Amino acid sequence: MTRITGKTRILFILGDPVAHIIGSSLLNEHLAERSIDAAVSPLHVAPGDLPRAIDMLRRLHNVAGFGVTIPHKIAVIPLLDSVGERGRQVGAVNFVRRNPDGTLHGDNIDGLGFAGGLVAAGVTIRGARVLQAGAGGAGRAIAFAMAEAGAADLTIANRSPDRARELAEAVSHAYPSCRTRAGNGDPAACDIAINTTSLGMKSGDALPMPTDQLPEGAVAAEVVMTPEVTPFLAAAAARGCRTVGGKAMLLAQLRAASDLVGLA
Ligand SMILES: NC(=O)c1ccc[n+]([C@@H]2O[C@H](COP(=O)([O-])OP(=O)(O)OC[C@H]3O[C@@H](n4cnc5c(N)ncnc54)[C@H](OP(=O)(O)O)[C@@H]3O)[C@@H](O)[C@H]2O)c1
Repeated sequence: MTRITGKTRILFILGDPVAHIIGSSLLNEHLAERSIDAAVSPLHVAPGDLPRAIDMLRRLHNVAGFGVTIPHKIAVIPLLDSVGERGRQVGAVNFVRRNPDGTLHGDNIDGLGFAGGLVAAGVTIRGARVLQAGAGGAGRAIAFAMAEAGAADLTIANRSPDRARELAEAVSHAYPSCRTRAGNGDPAACDIAINTTSLGMKSGDALPMPTDQLPEGAVAAEVVMTPEVTPFLAAAAARGCRTVGGKAMLLAQLRAASDLVGLA
């Protein structure tokens, strides 16, 4: 248990609802393991109260920063003083540093977390052919992160094709060296297959992409954390693919969050 004193730097995770949040507990463990004198708590903030909550956080001198989750990731942007490159690309912020003068700098570390989780699992992104299902919030962050990490080829498939097209255009524009397109893609011709949709959280969900053509030795990676082994990962493992679960992304985000707020 973290011993909180007047010297402890305080962090929050703002959301509505908050009952499902486990990132605070993992971040507290991460900080304690590294003997960093900081502690994290969820804060239940209704959408209408977000501007007042942010204004108050600016004025609290022992606050180091805060995470932002559903439904505040986009609404928080105009309330901040600056937003990093990744946050601007994705159009959403999920972690904010409070500077000593009370100014607030936000960024999006979902993509860094996902790429970090792959790297920690021994996966090489540079030069890889990536097939990604989903173009929502996590999908946007991950598509930019795959291109930033040197993927050679990226195909984005999404239930709403317009979102996939818009994302593919934005990634192509930012990273011309990664051949990026929207479409169903060819699972047989990919090195890394990624589910960034919420499919797999509920029993009976469809698979995010067909798995029967995935090559043996390809990597199948997930954003969904619960269940730990989703039907997508189970089907890919049955074909001989290496699998990386959604928790890897969250664990890698802990370091990125510590770095962003200067606690590392
Ligand atoms: N592991 C981590 O650290 C981490 C971090 C962030 C998020 N996540 C997880 O990532 C998942 C997505 O979160 P998000 O914030 O990106 O959500 P989001 O912005 O609402 O996007 C949801 C995505 O899933 C697709 N989708 C939803 N239901 C579908 C269905 N029935 N059939 C086909 N596609 C469907 C959506 O397609 P449309 O565009 O067509 O609606 C969209 O691409 C959630 O499970 C979340 O818990 C994990």
